[in-house]
Amino acid sequence: MSKILLLGCGNMGGALLKAWAAKTDHIFTVADPAQLDLPGNVSRVGSVEELGEDMFDYLIIALKPQIIDEVLPAYLPRLSPSGVLSSIAAGYSAERLAAHAPGRSVIRIMPNLPAVIGKGVNGLYAHGSVSDKESREIEQLALCSGETVWVESEDMLDRLTAVAGSGPGYVFEMLRAYVEAAENLGFSEKDARNLVLGTVRGTVELALESNQSLEELRKSVTSKGGTTAAGLNALNGGEEFSALIRDTLGAAYKRAVELR
Ligand SMILES: NC(=O)c1ccc[n+]([C@@H]2O[C@H](COP(=O)([O-])OP(=O)(O)OC[C@H]3O[C@@H](n4cnc5c(N)ncnc54)[C@H](OP(=O)(O)O)[C@@H]3O)[C@@H](O)[C@H]2O)c1
Repeated sequence: MSKILLLGCGNMGGALLKAWAAKTDHIFTVADPAQLDLPGNVSRVGSVEELGEDMFDYLIIALKPQIIDEVLPAYLPRLSPSGVLSSIAAGYSAERLAAHAPGRSVIRIMPNLPAVIGKGVNGLYAHGSVSDKESREIEQLALCSGETVWVESEDMLDRLTAVAGSGPGYVFEMLRAYVEAAENLGFSEKDARNLVLGTVRGTVELALESNQSLEELRKSVTSKGGTTAAGLNALNGGEEFSALIRDTLGAAYKRAVELR
């Protein structure tokens, strides 16, 4: 059981905290000036002064990246000398975190939005020397909100951010266009949404349960000269769709590098 200070508790921090507090026996304190609807076993302070003499084993940053430099220094003395500094902030490197807390272990967590329903994918990156116990404890936390993937370098975490951290945004946009196209074919907004979300959910669940590759699965629903083949030819016959997805991830990765 560890004492964990969560610095900032907005949309993502709040979603993760809910899962962490429900599924672990750690003692959580939130530092956030906003009045928040927190789980019963979590305490909140509005400022560092309200922490009294409390010291923590983990300090996890869930602030917007642009205010970390301003807010973090006041809270760092509350991290025990052997404590771990962790952060879910996108675009704020482990190098920069380590510069705030020389000698401390630093672990970055990159969650994504489905964490809100316990179905997220979390990228994890341990910077410098981090013990097995520290990695395990952070991984246990991350597993509360979904799956975990460890990466070996900060650069790979930026790549993972482009794939999974930003991923829900791309998927929402694809779903929006798919629903709009269904409406164009004559369905009401409600029916179009149900048809599209039901089709996508069923397809993803089928793919998760199947041992076949995605290409094999696609071929299994595509008969020569049929309706699916006609649609697929319009979607990616000239490979434009593949190129677009590659460019999408490439642009997000480029931005993550710029923000380092
Ligand atoms: N949302 C996502 O899908 C997602 C995915 C991956 C990573 N992340 C990362 O998660 C981090 C948080 O994102 P978010 O979407 O949860 O942002 P958010 O909703 O704005 O949450 C940030 C929280 O920090 C609070 N705060 C502001 N100043 C503070 C201070 N001085 N001391 C303590 N708390 C303070 C904010 O309060 P006020 O609202 O009152 O200012 C807010 O409750 C970001 O770094 C982001 O990169 C988010």
